[in-house]
Amino acid sequence: MKFFIDTANLDQIKQANELGILDGVTTNPSLMAKEGITGHDNIMKHYVDICNIVNGDVSAEVIATEYDKIIKEGEALASLHENIVVKVPMIKDGIKAIKYLSSNNIKTNCTLVFSAGQALLAAKAGATYLSPFIGRLDDISYDGVSLIEQIVYIYNTHGFETEVLAASIRHSNHIIKCAEAGADVVTCPLDPILKLLDHPLTNIGLEKFLADYKKGN
Ligand code: E4P
Repeated sequence: MKFFIDTANLDQIKQANELGILDGVTTNPSLMAKEGITGHDNIMKHYVDICNIVNGDVSAEVIATEYDKIIKEGEALASLHENIVVKVPMIKDGIKAIKYLSSNNIKTNCTLVFSAGQALLAAKAGATYLSPFIGRLDDISYDGVSLIEQIVYIYNTHGFETEVLAASIRHSNHIIKCAEAGADVVTCPLDPILKLLDHPLTNIGLEKFLADYKKGN
């Protein structure tokens, strides 16, 4: 399973990358705005800065919602760096654009996915990645992880190559549950990744080992 970090914060991307476990980055317009990155040229430069930190796929989201404009914007994003994956929303023109971009060897990430039907369409269009938003489903009292299970089952049954990228992760148990469900990728903020490190028995055990070592030295 691949680990992506879900942020546009360069410091957090560096921290995750330094752990040696990072396979890529996802961003979206809200995450860019959160970092105060505004204006076309600044946003493009920020994508390149991210690509220069991480040796892996970096999702950059289109703003356009019409087919021709999505294609134009997607091609411009893809030309920024070889690791850019064009993130396209799950709408009719988005599916058409994913078909065009994937047929032209441009990697895509179909975003804002909330149902198995949407997942089927994205896979048929040839999306490289599919991003079901599990936290936002949990927020409205649906079970986000069960959607991951359903999509993984459908993709495995029919041999679709689209990778299931579990997104909108809220906590470290989401990561474990998505791993159990067979997600190909999880993308999450730095905090849930770091929380995977924690267990009180690890801390207690380490303290005892170090104390016992000191007794004999
Ligand atoms: C990533 O690709 C998504 O845009 C992101 O995970 C959405 O997360 P949120 O629901 O916490 O905004």
